[in-house]
Amino acid sequence: MSRMTDQAMNALDDAPRPAPAPAAPLVLALESSCDETSAAVLRGEHEVLGHIILSQDIHRLYGGVVPELAARAHIQTVTDVVDGALREAGIDLDQIDVFAATAGPGLIGALLVGLTWAKAAAYAAGKPLIPVHHMEAHLFSVNVEEPRAEPPFVALLVSGGHTMLLWVPEWGRYRLLGETRDDAAGEAFDKVAKILGLGYPGGPVIQRTAASGDPDAFALPRPLLARNQQPGDRDYYDFSFSGLKTAVLNQVRALEEEGRLVEATPDLAASFQAAVVDVLAAKTLRAVAEFDCRRVVLGGGVAASRALRDRIAAGLGPDGELYAPSPRLATDNAAMIARAALFHYHRGERAGLDLTARADLPFPGLVR
Ligand code: KG4
Ligand code: ZN
Repeated sequence: MSRMTDQAMNALDDAPRPAPAPAAPLVLALESSCDETSAAVLRGEHEVLGHIILSQDIHRLYGGVVPELAARAHIQTVTDVVDGALREAGIDLDQIDVFAATAGPGLIGALLVGLTWAKAAAYAAGKPLIPVHHMEAHLFSVNVEEPRAEPPFVALLVSGGHTMLLWVPEWGRYRLLGETRDDAAGEAFDKVAKILGLGYPGGPVIQRTAASGDPDAFALPRPLLARNQQPGDRDYYDFSFSGLKTAVLNQVRALEEEGRLVEATPDLAASFQAAVVDVLAAKTLRAVAEFDCRRVVLGGGVAASRALRDRIAAGLGPDGELYAPSPRLATDNAAMIARAALFHYHRGERAGLDLTARADLPFPGLVR
């Protein structure tokens, strides 16, 4: 080996090298797509070091989320929420390896608050920034606490804004089997709760009210669910909940005229919940049969429904695997954003400073 080459090699050794990617990076993620302001610090895939979820109470006054009020509330609380998550984690901002935030879909003014915060922090720290699709994050939510919730699986994402049935052969590849044609499942719970005068959000209060009711008391429709449907039929996997909501409204009017609404409310809540659960569970189990995969992952706020979990678990049988997030991870939260961000980080994806939020952000990797 010549002296020249030795020098060249020494020079190479001295050259600054890019820092190796940490094996278990510290991710700080923000979620602000709707009415929860949330921040989480995740170490690697499954270790939640700090996690704050602040629900905006103001929307209860209006029976639904008011976009302008949501954006303002995010602005007021975002810095405290991030500080809280870091404090809980015992981590300083300058230790964070990766910054992430929900980039869409959602309320544009609300989204921009979390995304802009993450963008500014990533820029100031000179660290990578990863944008996350809110619904893809819901797919990852169970995996935060349950490493066995890995593809392949059938996924049912049921939130206030979306109802999607997916076949997931691997992370990043999503086949959309069916979705709602009108109201989302959670939206139906919220609207029916409003009709019944039960308050907002609808899902939890309907579940509580239904506990003392008879699910067979009222014969409500099971929209787009018929025995003679075949795979390939348009209705086989799709959902529709607005007709069901109207059926409840008609029932409420009839009961009001008879002066029996208050006493019949638990029965009506139970019958409505049973109708939604029947349809969601039946279509999920159709996908289980078609793809011959007995692993099901639930995500989104409606995944907190006890009745839905019980029905799908019963349909899967003893050798089936049902993974549903704990209530804290089922509804909107930043831990799931951090988990989804890690997947994209490990694939080498990075966002530039031109990144912006999109109310209608397309689902990455989704095919129909
Ligand atoms: O995922 P999420 O927190 O927000 C959106 O991204 O939309 O979902 C909120 C939705 C609400 O519509 C709420 O009524 C519903 O989840 N939800 C439930 C239950 N808990 C929350 N729906 C049915 N049963 C529940 N136990
Ligand atoms: Zn959500």
